Amino acid sequence: MTYVGKRVLRRDAIKKVTGRGLYVADQRRLGALYGATVRSPIPHGRIREIRVSKAMTVEGLVAVMTASDIKGRNLLPLVVDDYPLLADDRVRFVGQAVAIVAGETPDAARRAASLIEVDYESLDAVFDPQDALEDGAPTVHLPGNVLSRHQILKGDPDAAFATCDVVVERTYRTGHQVHLYLETQGMLAEPDGEGGLIVRGTMQCPYYVLDAVCAATGLRRNQVEIIQAETGGGFGGKEDVPSIVAAHAALLCQATARPVKLIYDREEDFASMSKRHPGWASVRYGAMKTGELRACDVSYIINGGAYTTLSPIVLWRGTVHAAGPYEIPNVRIESKAIATNTVPCGAFRGFGQPQVAFAQESCLDELALELGMDPAEIRQINILRRGKRTSTSQVISDSCGLPRALDMVLEASSWATSGAGRGDSQGQLRRRGMGVSTAYYGVGLGAGGRKLDRAHASIQIEPDGSVAVAVGNTEMGQGARSELSQIAADALGAPLDAVRVRLVDTSRVPDSGPTVASRTTISSGMAIIDAARPLRQRLEGVAQRLLGGPTESSEGVFVAEGENRSVAFREVAAACAQERQPMQSVGQWRQDKTTYDFEGSGQGDAYEVYAYSATVAAVEVDTETGVVDILDLWTAIDVGKAVNPDQVEAQIEGGVVQAVGYVVMEELVLHEGRIENPNLSAYIIPTSMDVIKVHPLIVEARYPEGPYGAKGFGEMPMIGTPPAVANAVADALGRRCRQLPIVPERVLEVLEESERDEEES
Ligand code: MTE
Ligand code: MOS
Repeated sequence: MTYVGKRVLRRDAIKKVTGRGLYVADQRRLGALYGATVRSPIPHGRIREIRVSKAMTVEGLVAVMTASDIKGRNLLPLVVDDYPLLADDRVRFVGQAVAIVAGETPDAARRAASLIEVDYESLDAVFDPQDALEDGAPTVHLPGNVLSRHQILKGDPDAAFATCDVVVERTYRTGHQVHLYLETQGMLAEPDGEGGLIVRGTMQCPYYVLDAVCAATGLRRNQVEIIQAETGGGFGGKEDVPSIVAAHAALLCQATARPVKLIYDREEDFASMSKRHPGWASVRYGAMKTGELRACDVSYIINGGAYTTLSPIVLWRGTVHAAGPYEIPNVRIESKAIATNTVPCGAFRGFGQPQVAFAQESCLDELALELGMDPAEIRQINILRRGKRTSTSQVISDSCGLPRALDMVLEASSWATSGAGRGDSQGQLRRRGMGVSTAYYGVGLGAGGRKLDRAHASIQIEPDGSVAVAVGNTEMGQGARSELSQIAADALGAPLDAVRVRLVDTSRVPDSGPTVASRTTISSGMAIIDAARPLRQRLEGVAQRLLGGPTESSEGVFVAEGENRSVAFREVAAACAQERQPMQSVGQWRQDKTTYDFEGSGQGDAYEVYAYSATVAAVEVDTETGVVDILDLWTAIDVGKAVNPDQVEAQIEGGVVQAVGYVVMEELVLHEGRIENPNLSAYIIPTSMDVIKVHPLIVEARYPEGPYGAKGFGEMPMIGTPPAVANAVADALGRRCRQLPIVPERVLEVLEESERDEEES
């Protein structure tokens, strides 16, 4: 391997920091129209009438469309098709799209949209999942309001709890989280001049966008091309919802035969796009005096919002991981996604795991306290290792770096001398504490998404020695294009600077599934290796002829074995072209390893492989202001093989900062389903002023079936960080916040509670 494993400069870095990247808002088209959206101001209602006469008087208005103008199918194609692209007779959340308009200028479009009058008959609404489960609760879609449920049963938890020395049961809550990608949602649709469409925009999942545009317009798949524009962050927030934006732009384009640009502003993005699901989890752990975990029981609920979207799979991932990265012989998990009249929730880095990991890792600490055991020790006793079984009874057969990761963070943070319970700062104004967590993450779609789990890559070697690679997984900031270039260069024996991985265009390679679940490294990486194989053979055949014997390659040069004669990749490529060799190749990767029983007790191999993390956080809590400062955060992640260690560290640093926002800052306030703080002045996220000393540590437990041993890991920091920080805050305060975010008000509440308790006793 020449490039894989090296700290190479990220290939899109300079372009992005110098502002040269072409995002969709930067793209101009002659004669383009601008789109705007009319949204529901009420959480639940029936649409009686939509009047457009006033809007029609706006100069520059070109088109108005409502549900009845949709040529194709008015539904977002996803797991369960219940989400209309434009509300038909009902609206189910504040911010739902009711009508779309196109105008000659953004201002004309916005003005016309604001003059469209919609008559609603207000219906009873429900906002809280617990209320939605009550008898007689308003019905969002179906009586009962359950969008999805899952269960896992391993062993006999009831019998096991009865024999445990210590049992601890607690309930935890988490709130919404907003993705806050720097670039808001946006799409540009243009006619291709032959009755078809080309749609460009910011997105994670171009093939989902293709599905939606075809469904909405009634066009066939070979008439629509979806091209990803430079994408300014996704974090899961550009998984399903860009399909709505794209379908709206495509519909307006189809109706007007002109290019249509539809770009959301921040408040609109806040109000209508997906969020992290709020979660409720009751966790019960049972252990012996030795610290050995014998039983776990989790009941997990997420608020799905008004439509199903991705809730069933977000819930499934949370369910599979709900007992934590431990071998526990008796496990019961029951989970539900509930419909309410709030903005639909979807994918967000960690995909249903951060909520339940916060609960389960907090509860494990509460159990350790009860046992009088060090929280690091209870983890060392129970964590998954090779040969151990997960809660779905999957045997961890290889690539398990969790024990190593835990050792590394404990050592780096000097846990033995300064870990939880060692700080004696009670009574001081600023109290210090330390917390630890361990986590695991099933890489890729797993059994839940097996139908979609394949990817393609196409490699074309040009006569000038340049290499164009087309894949189906997208770059959204995580560094995929850069990392896949390294893999392609090594697979071909090409110099890295000759390789270019293109932005995804659905017409170049067949459907490669979504870019989610940290799957790109394995899925597109392995597809590239597959595509490179025949080309590499051809290149080597020609190089051998040129050099008169067997060759080796390094840094884009083929060298005759044992001799100092060599020929550059560029020359070999030129010779191949001269010989009219076929120099394009398409490769595929497919996941067929999972076995999981969805209907029965939820047992089987849920994912092909897991990534692991161990995290230690050191915090300081100001008892006067309630502000939590994260002093140091050590996190060790098992990535299989670090394709580019710089980039692994960058993913860890960025992920930790995003997670710190989730634990101690970000609070979305909803009143009767309406978001009260849809902007960055009232929804607080970490900025560069919030210095957090992140210490990223890399563990490499090779995954033999990944590219050069690598596996995905980009969501891990979002899972392990929140509980480590929450455990550190509990250590500092001597009392626990069981609800996220731990904002200053909540810290002060907890402090008041403990003062009251002290006075009483
Ligand atoms: N990093 C950046 N900078 N921007 C992003 O949008 N998304 C995260 C993570 N890291 C994201 C990111 C999420 S939600 C996922 S699923 C993975 O990257 C996807 O990348 P991968 O498939 O290449 O692992
Ligand atoms: Mo990531 S939430 O799987 O896009």
